[in-house]
Amino acid sequence: MQSFFICGGNKLMGELEVQTSKNAVLPILAGCILCDKDVVLHKFPKFEDTLTMLKILESLGARTYIYENDVKIECESITNHEIPVDLASKIRSSIFSLGAILSRFKKAKVPYPGGCAIGARPIDLHIKGLKQLGAKIIDKHGFLYCDGSNMKSGVVNIDFPSVGATENIILASVFLKGRTKIINCAKEPEIVDLANFLNSMGAKIHGAGDSIIEIEGVEKLDGGEYTPITDRIIAGTYILATLICGGDVTLKNINTEHIQSLMHNLKNNCCKMIVKGDTLRVVANKRPKAISKIETQPYPGFPTDLQPQIMSMLSIARGTSVVVENLFESRFKHVGELKKLGADILVNDKTAIIKGKSMLYGANVTCQDLRGGAGLVLAGLVAKGYTTVDDVFHIDRGYYHMEKDLQQLGANIERITKA
Ligand code: UD1
Repeated sequence: MQSFFICGGNKLMGELEVQTSKNAVLPILAGCILCDKDVVLHKFPKFEDTLTMLKILESLGARTYIYENDVKIECESITNHEIPVDLASKIRSSIFSLGAILSRFKKAKVPYPGGCAIGARPIDLHIKGLKQLGAKIIDKHGFLYCDGSNMKSGVVNIDFPSVGATENIILASVFLKGRTKIINCAKEPEIVDLANFLNSMGAKIHGAGDSIIEIEGVEKLDGGEYTPITDRIIAGTYILATLICGGDVTLKNINTEHIQSLMHNLKNNCCKMIVKGDTLRVVANKRPKAISKIETQPYPGFPTDLQPQIMSMLSIARGTSVVVENLFESRFKHVGELKKLGADILVNDKTAIIKGKSMLYGANVTCQDLRGGAGLVLAGLVAKGYTTVDDVFHIDRGYYHMEKDLQQLGANIERITKA
């Protein structure tokens, strides 16, 4: 088992380049299924999920080549419309490929997806959206058998602005003759990035980032080169780490527009945030203050993917804070672990009340999911003494060598292998 061994108490100082967004790259890789020629993605993040998505593309017939910073995908040879169960069960994002496969082959056989254990995470909105475009979908023995031969452009209403469903329906619509209008879309920057990628390959998608997206069908997509956006959640994690530990950290290569809700919540909270172009300098040298109430919401609201990390900060803040998790029903699994470090948190349904303590104390804790795991590392960085964070494979799904980033900033953290 891989774990992080942390000796808490160091301030964070220095500069860090923020990595490419996994959540932007995953649907873009699904978008490659629509392309006829080679696609090169620059600054490719080599996470387990993105590598699994490459394997899914290979299972469909693509050839992929990983270079030091980039990946090349030869899309011409994609001829298969079925995804193997072992790959699909590894990542939830395998479901994005459904819309893209239907688009390219007018048929698809896709297993139910896997992914982080943070609640039920149904795919009804994906299926409902594809059906509104005329797809026939039968769910049998854990597979979705899809017939897209009668798919037509038209109007799709998504009941809730789901990120994945919006991405899937965009991918399904790119080749539909005429104009497709998708209503109540999610507005996340990763959706804008998917549309920018597809448009750069020849698609005609308008309005990404707003609640209504319109797509004019095109006959084919070429190939080309693209650099996906950097990761707003990683940026947010290291901003919060700096507030928790104190210090002076400059994050490079970030778009602060994408983290406005976090910056708004941290305004006047014992830190200075200085934005210059695509860099953000965070200077923090006092104990953070409590925040009366934070509620996770779809973008541009506060991201659920930063909820555990901000909870770690609130655990050592002056005063009492309330965090409401509106997106996922099982996203408080880190709370029990944070309590082992001495945090005072009371959970009632989707609300957590956090009474800030002046000190946390090192302990052995276990990651339960990706973002919760990142929250535990942040708490370990400030806890007195030694903290071991077990099962860091969860963290590896969204942070490429998190321990190296934190070491670069002066944290005392090491990756160890436990028997
Ligand atoms: C994406 C992100 C994930 C983030 C989440 C919310 C990727 C790869 N993952 O996940 O990191 O936490 O957005 O910002 O981009 N829902 C349904 N039916 C559906 C689909 C979703 O009920 O068919 C519900 C979900 O259970 C959840 C809510 O809608 O309660 C939001 O989910 P969604 O926006 O779809 O998240 P993902 O795309 O899975």
